[in-house]
Amino acid sequence: MQSKIENIKNKIKDFKAESIKDIEDLRILLLGKKGEITRLFSEFRDVPNDQKKELGQHINNLKNAALERIQQLKDSLEGSKIEKSDIDVTLPPFPLNFGSRHPISLVLEELYNIFGSLGFKIVEGPEIEDDWHVFSSLNFPKDHPARDMQDTFFIESNPDIVLRTHTSSVQVRTMEQQKPPIRVICPGRVFRNEAISARAHCIFHQIEGLYIDKNVSFADLKQTLLYFARELFGSDVKIRLRPSFFPFTEPSAEMDISCNLCGGKGCGVCKHTGWLEILGCGMVDPNVLDFNNIDSKIYTGFAFGMGIERIAMLKYQVKDLRLYFENDTRFLNQFKSVL
Ligand code: PHE
Repeated sequence: MQSKIENIKNKIKDFKAESIKDIEDLRILLLGKKGEITRLFSEFRDVPNDQKKELGQHINNLKNAALERIQQLKDSLEGSKIEKSDIDVTLPPFPLNFGSRHPISLVLEELYNIFGSLGFKIVEGPEIEDDWHVFSSLNFPKDHPARDMQDTFFIESNPDIVLRTHTSSVQVRTMEQQKPPIRVICPGRVFRNEAISARAHCIFHQIEGLYIDKNVSFADLKQTLLYFARELFGSDVKIRLRPSFFPFTEPSAEMDISCNLCGGKGCGVCKHTGWLEILGCGMVDPNVLDFNNIDSKIYTGFAFGMGIERIAMLKYQVKDLRLYFENDTRFLNQFKSVL
């Protein structure tokens, strides 16, 4: 019996397999119903008792060696198959799942290009700000409602430290650091203490523009905004400016564009007016220039600011503002084709 065991051991060691079938044949030859190892187990019954312990161990070891070898042969066969067909198992599977860019990023990028072509540089600033940069230097009176708890998030109840409610604060920081001519756009997140709904959110994105130089006029502002609207919404778009009020601009205006859905005829989106409000703007108040050590007798400037979500809503006809923040891939996937 010992020699049979040795024989089988050698057979296992030397066996070569070209295919899964060869391996299966080996398994049947050794461990099938009438296999050589199976037969050893039945012969084992007749072994004298005093040899049983040792031989039993040998036969068990042999069986384990056979099973191990079979597995080894299978593994190496599969490994070589992959090598032969040059498959890179680390590559992502088909269909390749490309991501899409967020609509807010898409709109921002478009705005960078439009204003960039007019010479505006991008500047960014902190989201946590002090009262001076968000309100005081922008000519907000001490009791202005925008400073109220209902609109502004304060940091740890410190009335001096706030989450910026607009990126005009970045315009102030630019005026502190640069001398005119200044031509910047300030994109970024802003925060207002509003209840979240389809039309309002406590976080949104803005882009604000500032141009200061000698002889900057309201006509320059109007022409810049007309150029922007035509680039973004198409050459047919019309604009109109309505008088408005902001503490930091004088005169101030709000700009509407002709409704891009109904072409100005009137529909649900423009509430049957034919117009959609998209931004605030005006000539920089001389007080703001003087607060920032820019001589208002020499320089004038214009500023404008808009919400990116609002622009994206109009451009992509999104009805609910919350979609921009929920990261639902069913929404985001719809922007795959937009470059
Ligand atoms: N800062 C204003 C806002 O957040 C927008 C604005 C910017 C208006 C510049 C006029 C000039 O609503």
